[in-house]
Amino acid sequence: MQAVFKTVRRVASSDAGVLIGGGSGTGKELVARAVHRLSNRADGPFIAINCGAIPENLLESELFGHEKGAFTGAHARRQGRIEMANRGTLFLDEIGELPLSLQVKLLRFLQEHIIERVGGRQEIEVDVRVIAATNTDLKHAMKEELFREDLYYRIAVVGVTLPLLRERGDDITVLAKVFLERFAAEGKKNVVGFNADAIKAMHTHDWPGNVRELENRVRRGVIMSEGRKLTPDDLELASGDAERFKTVSLKQAREELERELILRTLAKHNGNMTRTAAELSVSRPTLYELMDKLGIRKEDRAAG
Ligand SMILES: Nc1ncnc2c1ncn2[C@@H]1O[C@H](COP(=O)(O)OP(=O)(O)OP(=O)(O)O)[C@@H](O)[C@H]1O
Ligand SMILES: [Mg+2]
Repeated sequence: MQAVFKTVRRVASSDAGVLIGGGSGTGKELVARAVHRLSNRADGPFIAINCGAIPENLLESELFGHEKGAFTGAHARRQGRIEMANRGTLFLDEIGELPLSLQVKLLRFLQEHIIERVGGRQEIEVDVRVIAATNTDLKHAMKEELFREDLYYRIAVVGVTLPLLRERGDDITVLAKVFLERFAAEGKKNVVGFNADAIKAMHTHDWPGNVRELENRVRRGVIMSEGRKLTPDDLELASGDAERFKTVSLKQAREELERELILRTLAKHNGNMTRTAAELSVSRPTLYELMDKLGIRKEDRAAG
């Protein structure tokens, strides 16, 4: 995470495109806003658009705007998000969901700083910095020809990948404490911390929803808690030991641990087999063999 902060500070002052990767709830939007805030565009607007949440037929006019009468229902001229972001930053969330036809149009805007509204003939000059986020592997999408390579290299001048919460070690409890203090103050509850079991449970939990999940569990915990310290129950987490020893045989326990460790290490190295094998002190062929035996598919490698 320190490396992320360093990159954020460095990249902020430039106008370079930034591609933020990472699993759901890892803080991609937070990082995008931080880059904007630290940039010399901080006084300009930060405009976000989620490319995955808007139906394909509306997305173009949402991005580029439209002229009156451009299509049925276009009663008035409307500015698109790109124009709204003029002199500021445009945050393209879930960029991997952008249809190919719009990828071409986006590329033109990135190369020439010019857009045309839907149904318009006028070329409009815009001064916009673009930050994009994705929780899918765009390299994979490029191989499948679902994402244009030229667009990728425009956008991913600088790449930042946010770590999964479960890989962030003591950050988990540091963040938990930050959330606890905020929600306790908001709810005027006299909650001051976590009991030892809760700390243990937070370190054993997998956190598929990452920081957002932590935030939600602590919010709920503060509301539900009857004591001064949150328990695993308040957080709806299993107490660590119960979870760990539920396995039936030694072999099963060993395999469970191996699988977990391999998956985490793969995720840490973005699926790079050579680096994963090195960190786990096994040869690459052995790692392949182990993955085979444990039923870890290659597609799982970089998955959150
Ligand atoms: N370092 C942090 N400190 C405090 N809060 C954080 C931090 N990182 C993330 N959060 C909080 O976690 C939640 C999720 O963050 P954010 O929306 O930036 O994640 P995301 O990666 O964009 O998620 P998604 O993939 O679901 O869109 C937000 O409420 C955000 O404020
Ligand atoms: Mg987001």
